[in-house]
Amino acid sequence: MQQANDQEEIHAVTGQWRQDGLRTALVPTMGNLHGGHIALVEAARREADRVITSVYVNPTQFGEYEDFENYPHTLEKDRRTLERAGCDLLFLPDHHTMYPHGLKNTVRLIATSQIAAQLEGKSRPGHFDGVITVVARLFNLVVPNIAVFGEKDYQQLLVIRQMVDDLGYGIRIVGVPTVREASGLAMSSRNNYLEPSEKKAAAELNAVLLEAAERINGEAADTARVERDAAGRLESLGFRVDYVAIRRSEDFGKPQVADQRLRVLAAVWCGQTRLIDNVGTFGVGI
Ligand code: PAJ
Repeated sequence: MQQANDQEEIHAVTGQWRQDGLRTALVPTMGNLHGGHIALVEAARREADRVITSVYVNPTQFGEYEDFENYPHTLEKDRRTLERAGCDLLFLPDHHTMYPHGLKNTVRLIATSQIAAQLEGKSRPGHFDGVITVVARLFNLVVPNIAVFGEKDYQQLLVIRQMVDDLGYGIRIVGVPTVREASGLAMSSRNNYLEPSEKKAAAELNAVLLEAAERINGEAADTARVERDAAGRLESLGFRVDYVAIRRSEDFGKPQVADQRLRVLAAVWCGQTRLIDNVGTFGVGI
């Protein structure tokens, strides 16, 4: 596996691949890699001739009181994991490569769309601005044909799809289903923060979302009521609920009568740790 650390190095390698007519796929990550990230690398391998994985913990997408300072760094392990998964190039930029004029003095993109304004965007002001700013910079540095993102962060996936449309990137965005522990808990770097007893409890989040999806599947349902019931159930299991929301899978609009594809999404606090998860439905409409 090759490695590139700055603009010159990444342009040299990916530029050569382009010249050779090879199709490239980028997998953006913040490191501390787990099975979810590996599924993205594997999807990228299926879609392209060369796979680039970036590892960069992006300060501008963390809120003031969030876990940027404590975010786990496990570079040597990540390197071995990527090597085994068949990644061709590790892109490991530093802050200067990502923000050449400094973090406080950078041009930023602002995610003003209705998709970005709600749920995670509301609970974490500025988060999606930081995400699209760094992802746009990665796209410009790597110039991939394809970029791969996880459905674990379903709203992020939609925000990035819209950015690619709005800014005319011409990059195909591939979404990969969420990879879970046997318990149903969605794999996440933040699961490391959970105590063993909390980890057991956290698995209930997925079960509650599946139950909610089941109520919409196959029969007309009052989605506002399903949201309320799921939130109540999560509270009774000891979570502090940030939101439970049912949205249209394609555009994150509020569900309309006869919508087929919906997404049930939630964010909860399990002790000191904020968890998000979502599941899809194929209901016959509401
Ligand atoms: P990070 O949290 O490291 O996630 C990197 C990618 O892995 C994202 O596309 C995320 O949705 C995906 N992912 C995480 N857990 C997953 C799981 N259990 N199953 C499937 N995919 C999973 O998301 C980010 O980093 C950052 O916001 C980033 C896009 C890199 C921009 O900084």
